[in-house]
Amino acid sequence: MTHQDPSGGPPLVKVEHLSEFFPITGGILQRKVAEVKAVDDVSFTINRGETLGLVGESGCGKTTVGRLILRLIEPTAGRIVFGGEEGVDLTRLHGKALKPFRRRIQIIFQDPYASLDPRSPIGTAIGEGLRIHGMGTPAEQRHKVARMMEMVGLQPYHARRYPHEFSGGQRQRIGIARALVLAPDLLVCDEPVSALDVSIQAQVLNLLRSLQRELGLTYLFVAHNMGVVEHISDRVAVMYLGAIAEVAPSLDIYREPIHPYTIALLSAVPIADPSVKGRRKRIILVGDVPSPVNPPSGCRFHTRCWLRQQLGNPDRCATERPALRQLPVRPGREVACHFAEELLEPVRRDKLIATAAAESSARAGGGEAVAPVVTSRVPESGDVAPPFRRPGGDGGRL
Ligand SMILES: Nc1ncnc2c1ncn2[C@@H]1O[C@H](COP(=O)(O)OP(=O)(O)OP(=O)(O)O)[C@@H](O)[C@H]1O
Ligand SMILES: [Mg+2]
Repeated sequence: MTHQDPSGGPPLVKVEHLSEFFPITGGILQRKVAEVKAVDDVSFTINRGETLGLVGESGCGKTTVGRLILRLIEPTAGRIVFGGEEGVDLTRLHGKALKPFRRRIQIIFQDPYASLDPRSPIGTAIGEGLRIHGMGTPAEQRHKVARMMEMVGLQPYHARRYPHEFSGGQRQRIGIARALVLAPDLLVCDEPVSALDVSIQAQVLNLLRSLQRELGLTYLFVAHNMGVVEHISDRVAVMYLGAIAEVAPSLDIYREPIHPYTIALLSAVPIADPSVKGRRKRIILVGDVPSPVNPPSGCRFHTRCWLRQQLGNPDRCATERPALRQLPVRPGREVACHFAEELLEPVRRDKLIATAAAESSARAGGGEAVAPVVTSRVPESGDVAPPFRRPGGDGGRL
């Protein structure tokens, strides 16, 4: 896995201070009465050839970020610089000027069926983009479709079949073929395996990984479950209520999550190795995610933050929004927490986490609040370990 752009060049995507406020209208005149702050001042980069995992609870703004990058919606504010050295700000492009980027940035969805025309054989559906973008002669297009179908593991005779004749996993392969036949630079994967069985999830993740290597692709991989992004991401960005809480190389964030929200999110991911069981205590956050219409002042997480509580509820968390800042003692890591340093010294960190877990456990009625242990793995070829699911089926959710 590459944590840096191997060429050392500028990132393929640079998102700067991006915001999306959806208006809520009311009354006879349908005037704007409020706004859903779905994405509020978000900045991150995606290096060429890497996978950036974007995780967070339902409604935190992940899909909105993806739709903004695809320019399916207009941002309220901010820039999306795409293309590295010669990069252009996509937010300034409209109409014809945007067309080449419509090819270069593709998306796959959780439910590929919804984006397929039920009356169109899948060979036609996969080649649709080639026709729209005028890429090659009809014979070349047929050849590209056949080659792409082979790459994603579909049979040539599948081309004449209709979407309803395929399983969920096969439909996701169709969705992947449809996106990749256009030879994009960036693929936004919006929860592409969430609706699939565990064994099929692993197959699709393996496929995405091998296609990435073969075709030199860059991925933004959206999921609400930290367990899913662990094995596919080079770096992970964690979102909470429209803002980025933490960004770090994948190995670092799973070994030493720093933002109190990331620590809680990760504490809900089942652990494959029973020897780790005792070391990862489950922290269950208090209350629901606040409304993005009226998010908390200061740090958006302060109303549910177990660290703030243990520090005696400092005012700063409620009044000053923490910037996403680099940590000099942890190169490559960025955290939006005023008190991140409290969690860097191992003994103090363990004590703070143990106290939060004990309080969770007490709230849960004294039951043991540890992350569940998964002992059996789904056998799978390739180097991507299968994603895990909590016995309850919502692995990694809080
Ligand atoms: N078109 C829209 N108009 C108004 N509000 C919207 C619109 N699209 C999304 N939202 C709101 O914006 C917030 C973020 O939604 P988004 O779909 O980006 O979340 P998400 O992180 O992808 O969630 P999930 O994990 O459930 O897919 C939510 O509160 C959602 O209700
Ligand atoms: Mg979503």
